[in-house]
Amino acid sequence: MAEDTPRKVKKVLKAIFPVAGMGTRFLPATKSIPKEILTLVDRPLIQYAIDEARAAGIKEFIFVTARGKSALEDYFDYSPELEATLRRAGKDQLLETLKETNMDSGAIAYVRQNRAMGLGHAVWCARRLIGNEPFAVLLPDDVIAAEKPCLQQMVEAYEQTGGNMVAAMEVPVDRTSSYGVLDVAEDMGSIVQVKGMVEKPKENPPSNLAVIGRYILTPQVMNNLNKMKAGAGGEIQLTDAIAEECQTPGKVFGFRFRGQRYDCGSKAGFLQATVAFGLSRPDLREEFSAYLNDMVAMQKAAQ
Ligand code: G1P
Repeated sequence: MAEDTPRKVKKVLKAIFPVAGMGTRFLPATKSIPKEILTLVDRPLIQYAIDEARAAGIKEFIFVTARGKSALEDYFDYSPELEATLRRAGKDQLLETLKETNMDSGAIAYVRQNRAMGLGHAVWCARRLIGNEPFAVLLPDDVIAAEKPCLQQMVEAYEQTGGNMVAAMEVPVDRTSSYGVLDVAEDMGSIVQVKGMVEKPKENPPSNLAVIGRYILTPQVMNNLNKMKAGAGGEIQLTDAIAEECQTPGKVFGFRFRGQRYDCGSKAGFLQATVAFGLSRPDLREEFSAYLNDMVAMQKAAQ
């Protein structure tokens, strides 16, 4: 375990949301809509990440954005005309729903990444807002359905370990080249001590334990990013900056979260999430599952 005792661990109050990517996998939709505004049932992807961060005690939300992402800023702003209309119509329930989207003044900050140079570079763009504090990073593409939200699980584990912590999940070995992959020093069950990390290994992955887009990081990782060393795909990789910390034992941990992760950066993953979240909604479950059952029956009959 890290030298930090639970008492010494600083609270994680800031979170970075890298949302500068162009979302080309979802063209043409993403020609005019940021990928993070694409909707699972009735809430944009980014709302799921924000709710998860709030549940984990995050108070400052930092978005790393780019050109063409202004819909995101509007989404988190008050909408006086809409709210007045709903109030006049007595639509209290909808007004309540809108509240989830409002951020307190000063709780949300936007920084621009003016060149797409990789995830590490995007995170580094927020360095001045992070200062000398631990911080979380949430990749909104990774949507995690869990009884206790994933980042909250991680914050609790981090209070025991200190150091850096990345969410981790076993993946089939032939999928490891799509992920950051952990080199495990000691497997303690839900927490694993990490001695190395490789971003998207083309061959010989050190394990099949992959990094999923939730991180709790120390400010030292920002310093490592200062070096601007290009890694996999010629990009500045967050994985590499965290991997540097592995040189000291007890500084980097993987956390096997309890929950179901959906890769909403891919079309298939997005569709799976849509089905799962649709079925989990009490107001939709009955009608939607009846429809799915019919579909499956029809497909079977056609075979
Ligand atoms: C990013 C990270 C990678 C991680 C993945 C999880 O990759 O670089 O280490 O495993 O997110 O979703 P991306 O999928 O953005 O290429």
